[in-house]
Amino acid sequence: MNFAIIGCGFIAKKHAAAISQTESAKLVAVCDKVTDTMQFYKEEYGANDYNNLEVMLEKEKIDVVCICTPSGYHASIAVQVAEAKKHIVVEKPIAMTLGDTERIIEACRVNEVKLSVVHPNRFRPVVQELRKILDQGLLGEVSHASCMVNWNRNQEYYDQATWRGTKEYDGGVLMNQAIHNLDLLLWFLGKPKQVFSMEATRFRNIEAEDVSVGTIQFETGALGTVEASTTVYPKNYEESITIFGEKGTVKIGGTNALYFEHLEIEDMTDNQRQDLKESIKADPWGTPGHQWIIEDMVNAISENREPAVTGEDGKNALKLVLTFYESAKLNQPVQF
Ligand SMILES: NC(=O)c1ccc[n+]([C@@H]2O[C@H](COP(=O)([O-])OP(=O)(O)OC[C@H]3O[C@@H](n4cnc5c(N)ncnc54)[C@H](O)[C@@H]3O)[C@@H](O)[C@H]2O)c1
Repeated sequence: MNFAIIGCGFIAKKHAAAISQTESAKLVAVCDKVTDTMQFYKEEYGANDYNNLEVMLEKEKIDVVCICTPSGYHASIAVQVAEAKKHIVVEKPIAMTLGDTERIIEACRVNEVKLSVVHPNRFRPVVQELRKILDQGLLGEVSHASCMVNWNRNQEYYDQATWRGTKEYDGGVLMNQAIHNLDLLLWFLGKPKQVFSMEATRFRNIEAEDVSVGTIQFETGALGTVEASTTVYPKNYEESITIFGEKGTVKIGGTNALYFEHLEIEDMTDNQRQDLKESIKADPWGTPGHQWIIEDMVNAISENREPAVTGEDGKNALKLVLTFYESAKLNQPVQF
């Protein structure tokens, strides 16, 4: 299957590597408004380069387009790509507004193309194991969960490009970084009922928030807390999710939520717990998340099924971020 990438910055390299690692996938073309950014893909993968998306879509025989532009451009590009009848892998967040998200989902539905959103953390080995633990009911009823993303993105990070930290094209720590963790909370705990949050721009010279704290009430009755920041001195400190159930307590953590930091389950023996922890430690990253996403898209097309992370999943993660923003703005709880 022939792939193309639009937006050849930081994350595009992961897409290109993932495509090259995927059997029966090939990167044939790239598109960016800045010509220099595409040199690497020409040399490394023999991809043809384009400054104009319309021309690329017309000239190349493409099956799937990976959208890796700044977030505020995802929607207009995705609609154009869907109308050209190409399948889409779009980086997170799917878009910046729910209206734009609906436009993408509808364009993909009408043009009968597949849509997958890049939430690769779902494929981390520890996350997959926690999901299995929940599916097997090993934690029993969940009382509450805690989610932390305390990281560092310094001012130079935000000053790399004019879109970073803006409300229209990027958003703050929730929209850019913690959206992956909000996606996991939704995947683990289901639909939220309401959110109450506060946010601030404490240390970085940006328009959006660099700190957010908030609470979620889920439809099951479970509660959740979220703490997210890019202000931590001097480097990334913690990414974790802890789930407290009536028959177990599980924390996945570390600086990148890659390990079981705590695993206490009534129906698991000490040996079982130890083996599970050790198996994760042996290969904490597993197959790179972007490769999972690309392989899954190839298989979804071949098998004519939905991708593992759907447009609706991307929409729900975005909706949760926007509910946090709305609650902080109104200084009151907001229904999901
Ligand atoms: N899944 C992840 O873990 C992850 C990690 C980092 C970034 N991202 C997402 O990937 C996207 C890009 O982030 P990045 O860090 O690679 O940004 P970047 O600034 O490094 O790269 C963006 C590229 O897009 C190009 N571009 C901008 N507007 C364009 C347009 N209209 N048409 C064609 N090209 C255009 C720029 O010239 C640049 O080369 C964002 O949505 C971001 O949230 C996801």
